[in-house]
Amino acid sequence: MSTQAPIRRVTVPQIARRKGGEPIVSLTSYHAHTAAIVDEVADFILVGDSLGMVMHGMESTVGVPLDLMIMHGRAVVRGTKRALIVVDMPFGTYEESPSIAFRNAAKIMKETGCGAVKLEGGKRMAETIRFLTERGIPVMAHIGLTPQSSHVMGGFKTQGRDEESWPMHEEDARAVAEAGAFALVLEGMLEPLARRITDQVAIPTIGIGASAHCDGQILVLEDMLGLNPWTPKFVKVYGQLGDMIKQAVKSYAEEVRDRSFPGEDQVYR
Ligand code: KIV
Repeated sequence: MSTQAPIRRVTVPQIARRKGGEPIVSLTSYHAHTAAIVDEVADFILVGDSLGMVMHGMESTVGVPLDLMIMHGRAVVRGTKRALIVVDMPFGTYEESPSIAFRNAAKIMKETGCGAVKLEGGKRMAETIRFLTERGIPVMAHIGLTPQSSHVMGGFKTQGRDEESWPMHEEDARAVAEAGAFALVLEGMLEPLARRITDQVAIPTIGIGASAHCDGQILVLEDMLGLNPWTPKFVKVYGQLGDMIKQAVKSYAEEVRDRSFPGEDQVYR
């Protein structure tokens, strides 16, 4: 019998209770080994459908299939011990009806071992959020710039530039909070609007390009590591890993070509 107590993961109620308290730290991750590094600092890790663009070179998140989310979700759960793992529901797997959303969310939870799902949409998704949470599936909501609707929005556009649109976004936020979402991602939103929403809802808001006036922050890991060929303007790049990879690959290629590759050191023992 093991004498070591298992490390318990951060829970959904623990995240929900952080409203107005210690800021919530989160990052995306799609991969077991990077997730293990992120696990040391993040309260929750999102297996975002941004993986379609970041990992698989897609132009948007619209084409991401459910099986791909499950495969990456499983890898991240395997690589981590501590953080709450949230997996995105991809486009087309939840909008049609609450029961279809339940079937797909349950599949994600059973097959990955994650602790919650995330879906995009405000008021229009409130009924589905209530249906899922009442049946044991914790839901993180996501409003503002919702990439799965980029075709309707005409691209990835900052929301709230027009003050007349604020009541609509505020109504979206209140609707998902009242429906039972435990946290709310605010993406691509002007600061005064993000601040108003954060003040109005009882659940933590998690900003991405939505100012510091949120209860927590999330960034796409590859963006903040300088690993994306295109980094959104609002992202602070904390490490230039893209340049380090280029340099390492160049050094390796040079050593192979000029025969200075360390032969003895590179043998399986
Ligand atoms: O898919 C994703 O990475 C996301 C974050 C941008 C919040 O939804």
